[in-house]
Amino acid sequence: MSKLTGSRKATQFTESVIREMTRLNQLYDGVNLSQGFPDFPAPAAIKDAACAAIQDDVNQYAVTWGARPLREAVAREFTRRYGLALIPDEQITVCCGSTEAMMSTLMAIIDPGDEVVIFEPFYENYGPDAILSGAAPRYVTLHEPDWSFDPDELTAAFNDRTKAIILNTPNNPTGKVFSGAELETIAALCRKWDAVAISDEIYEHIIYDGRRHVPIATIDGMAERTVTINGLSKTYSVTGWRVGWTISPPSLTGAIRKVHDFLTVGAAAPLQEAGAVALRLPDQYYLDLATQYRRRRDVLLEILERHNFTCYKPHGAYYIMTDISTFGFSDDVEFARYLVKDCGVAAVPGSSFYKEPASGRTKLRFCFCKRDETLTEADRRLEKLVPAGVRLH
Ligand SMILES: Cc1ncc(COP(=O)(O)O)c(C=O)c1O
Repeated sequence: MSKLTGSRKATQFTESVIREMTRLNQLYDGVNLSQGFPDFPAPAAIKDAACAAIQDDVNQYAVTWGARPLREAVAREFTRRYGLALIPDEQITVCCGSTEAMMSTLMAIIDPGDEVVIFEPFYENYGPDAILSGAAPRYVTLHEPDWSFDPDELTAAFNDRTKAIILNTPNNPTGKVFSGAELETIAALCRKWDAVAISDEIYEHIIYDGRRHVPIATIDGMAERTVTINGLSKTYSVTGWRVGWTISPPSLTGAIRKVHDFLTVGAAAPLQEAGAVALRLPDQYYLDLATQYRRRRDVLLEILERHNFTCYKPHGAYYIMTDISTFGFSDDVEFARYLVKDCGVAAVPGSSFYKEPASGRTKLRFCFCKRDETLTEADRRLEKLVPAGVRLH
């Protein structure tokens, strides 16, 4: 057999469907409600800070595990909000986005044969992350309409090979915010099986309806076994900056930093300086962020329901998971292609969030991190959506 092929690892997963949808969207000049990036400007103060850092010649490598001002800001804000003291020199590692933070963490802690528990539907990177790091994933279902899990199913997924559980709250794609009681259940299993909680909290500040974000690291006995992952992308509308971080117990930090160093050396130095400025924005910034997103959520919910989608109302993050059964398509990917090609609206097929594509066949995810004009244009284009029974396919 030819050696000019991808590795066994690389051929076990497919290209990101979300990015494929973005490309199709460009091809058909559609309204992109697929990939979760804002189409409105980032705050002026942090753009100015980035420009100033470049002009001040912060243009060489930062310390591999992150510029001190950003690491100190991350620790300061986490302690201020959640009361957990952190040592920036021993616990914070700045990475190229939370994407790299997750990859570095998994590569740092996983040995062959180790199992990782993943809730599904999941953020689509976690599947390939598990494969690339050599972990054996064990999936536990979040059940609609409230995306709750069955504690017995979760309990059955843990055993003495379980190295970690990946948690994402507020959650993409469902908008679920894990409750304190649910986090206690997860924490108890982590403590029982000596497992690590890897908690992706990138939507920490995008939360609605009086829900409160609880980092699992703040639960009893969890600080020493939790890697919290976060970044600038979503909170400050700078997904292209690629700045994220891990907050880890000192026992895991060395391994994460080594992997991170050899994967990327470090995140962009001037953008780390701007990140430190971003983390000093007043509390009002975060309140306004959540208020604006709640308003956009309500706008898109109304649009989608009017166009006959069944919506699962999200309490956090900036996505709406919908049920598309009423449209009469047997396949979510076919429906998503139809939607972008014939109507001009891009969304993400539900199957990209499940291990078994069949589990997501009746689902489609829309994002609402978009300007009002963009959502209004999507509304206009959805008028072309032909109800089931009329369409021939
Ligand atoms: C749950 C989740 N984690 C991580 C990311 C990627 O974040 P970053 O831009 O920091 O790599 C996303 C982006 O959509 C996400 O939804």
